[in-house]
Amino acid sequence: GYDVSKLLKQTGAVAYDPGFMNTAATTSAITYIDGDAGVLRYRGYPIEQLAQHSSFLEVSYLLIYGNLPSPTELEEFDQKIRRHTLLHEELKGFFGGFPRDAHPMPVLSSAVSALSTFYQDSLDPFNAEHVEVSTIRLMAKLPVIAAYAHKKSIGQPMLYPDNSQNLVENFLRLSFGLPAEQYEMDPVVVKALDLLLILHADHEQNCSTSTVRLVGSSNANLFASVSAGINALFGPAHGGANEAVLKMLRQIQADGIKPEDYMEKVKNKEDGVRLMGFGHRVYKNYDPRAKIIKATAHEVLGKLGGNDELLDIAMRLEEKALADDYFIQRKLYPNVDFYTGLIYKAMGFPEKMFTVLFAIGRLPGWIAQWREMINDPQTKIGRPRQLYTGEPERNYPAN
Ligand code: ACO
Repeated sequence: GYDVSKLLKQTGAVAYDPGFMNTAATTSAITYIDGDAGVLRYRGYPIEQLAQHSSFLEVSYLLIYGNLPSPTELEEFDQKIRRHTLLHEELKGFFGGFPRDAHPMPVLSSAVSALSTFYQDSLDPFNAEHVEVSTIRLMAKLPVIAAYAHKKSIGQPMLYPDNSQNLVENFLRLSFGLPAEQYEMDPVVVKALDLLLILHADHEQNCSTSTVRLVGSSNANLFASVSAGINALFGPAHGGANEAVLKMLRQIQADGIKPEDYMEKVKNKEDGVRLMGFGHRVYKNYDPRAKIIKATAHEVLGKLGGNDELLDIAMRLEEKALADDYFIQRKLYPNVDFYTGLIYKAMGFPEKMFTVLFAIGRLPGWIAQWREMINDPQTKIGRPRQLYTGEPERNYPAN
């Protein structure tokens, strides 16, 4: 029962926009989305072309530095990252401080935050060399921390990074390798993971990226800002949807209900069930990333021997939904998460790691957006206003 326009006048604020649904907080030259048309471009390049021809490393360079690298530039970028993969031994000790069953996301954000304590002499956001070395350190060390968080959660020993391998290969070996065994790199897994990381690499001003920018706007260093972004991504409404899709498919399988009948439940809004992996705040058309994943899901799951029954359920749900008035009228299409969980599972990752994989993919986007913000003369410390609805002035009781 309060009048927003009156509160706005009292405050001298000009807009009340919960969730910033209609507020552009910045200009940006990094990622373009047209949600109605289902278009996504990084630095002008359509996501479909990057998915087909590029690599996660090259896309990272593109996002961070603005243009595709020459072969020499890409080689240098790759080599620098390989040289920075080792974690300080004292940072490795950090992992011992968490409970055995710790979720890998808070372990990741804590360890990334702790990087500030190891590199105190190179944290100045306005020193180009500091920013550059921090960029490389993060790109190199975050996937290693992520793999160690996974090893920690399953109680296995942590391996040292191997500089003869690139970022994606290293991450896979550190996640699945064992000290006494040679880890067999499966090229299908490497290629599929590389693709999924490309598709997650940036998505303009989403919750975690806006968090990175907001924290960075106080001139907090890159590690502190990215650590905050990881915590934002941890929320189930942001990074956790792929886990929810898998749970839904498993539930349908376990209950032995037909996808058609599940759809009826969704449409009747029984128990508030939604078709997980469908719908998006910005895309009111097929999420272009979902299209790409769909095309590869079959190939990858076929080769990796994924759970075919779950894939079948997913396919049938999608087929029914795309032909159903309920979904057509509300412009509900599959989003990026509809198939990713199935692929991650087939690769051997436990569900707790799904959001961590999202974080590895989103890292170059966070770095690129933080750097753009730091170099933008328009940047001001982020400081929204509020409309106060509490008690008016009242006196503290005398006795
Ligand atoms: N299944 C069934 N109905 C749905 C779904 C769904 N997945 N999504 C939206 N609807 C319906 C709503 O019930 C509502 O119907 P109504 O008008 O009859 O009340 C209408 O569509 C609009 O829904 P909103 O919640 O207002 O749409 P919004 O844009 O706010 O939500 C969201 C987007 C949160 C993604 C939503 O579609 C959803 O909950 N999807 C399932 C979860 C999911 O897959 N999330 C991943 C998002 S992608 C990512 O984070 C990378």
